[in-house]
Amino acid sequence: MKTNFKKITAVLAAAVLSTAVLASCGGSDAPATDSNASDTAASTNGGELVMGTNAAFQPFEYVTENGLVDIYDGIDVAIAKKIADENGMTLKIEDMEFDGLIAAVSTGKIDMAVAGMTVTEERQQNVDFSDTYFTASQVMVVQADNEDIKTAEDLKNNKLVGVVLGYTGDNIVTDTIGVDEANITRANRGIDIVQDVKNGKLDAVVIDSATGKALAEANGLKVVEDPEAFDSEEYAIAVQKGNTELLDKINKVLAEMKASGEIEELAVKYNSEVGIEE
Ligand code: ARG
Repeated sequence: MKTNFKKITAVLAAAVLSTAVLASCGGSDAPATDSNASDTAASTNGGELVMGTNAAFQPFEYVTENGLVDIYDGIDVAIAKKIADENGMTLKIEDMEFDGLIAAVSTGKIDMAVAGMTVTEERQQNVDFSDTYFTASQVMVVQADNEDIKTAEDLKNNKLVGVVLGYTGDNIVTDTIGVDEANITRANRGIDIVQDVKNGKLDAVVIDSATGKALAEANGLKVVEDPEAFDSEEYAIAVQKGNTELLDKINKVLAEMKASGEIEELAVKYNSEVGIEE
């Protein structure tokens, strides 16, 4: 099964910055460590960078015993850590419901949402997005022996469909494909809703490709793709509207990581960590 992992698109520059800490980042990437002489703490110590996420979305963010940052690990965690490190900041992770992330960014409760978040016009009304760093699409997770769901259209054939509340998959199933509202079940986490496919309560779950593959793999289910029905989606990092200082820092690190192939390497590493077979 071919995946979209290799389609990591090229993008541009940039960096980080807590909204609370106005660092004067006059051009030097390397945080100084051997001097306290600076008159702003921020120039030697960028302070805390608060990343909001929903850590139930492997391989992008998940909870594990020995996480890269506390109990958290995944592609997004590694990217965010690099953004913090390169700016001499400490990454702090706030795990919350996905549905609350946009509000948390726009009210400044968190500095950035790094959550495999797809850029959408609706979200762009409330937050600013970084350059994109990953291309995905929706897939259908069904029982391994399922033979009657081959395309997204088949979902309209009186199938019971699960989605995660507030994910793009929810909008697509509800609005684009137009599955009857009575046949849609919404949960807060992919892990939970996929159980209902396993136990036969639902026919399919529509969710992002990488996460769907990881969940299928872990639960003995299979993934059905329909690239004609499911457009590609681009993941990006969300910051508060107008926070160009942080956005520039983020974009700078993303550009470096894309140019060096590091994001692709992270995808390979974390895919294998969560059991996704290419
Ligand atoms: N890409 C989808 C969206 O933006 C799902 C993201 C879910 N991310 C998460 N960390 N739970 O709606």
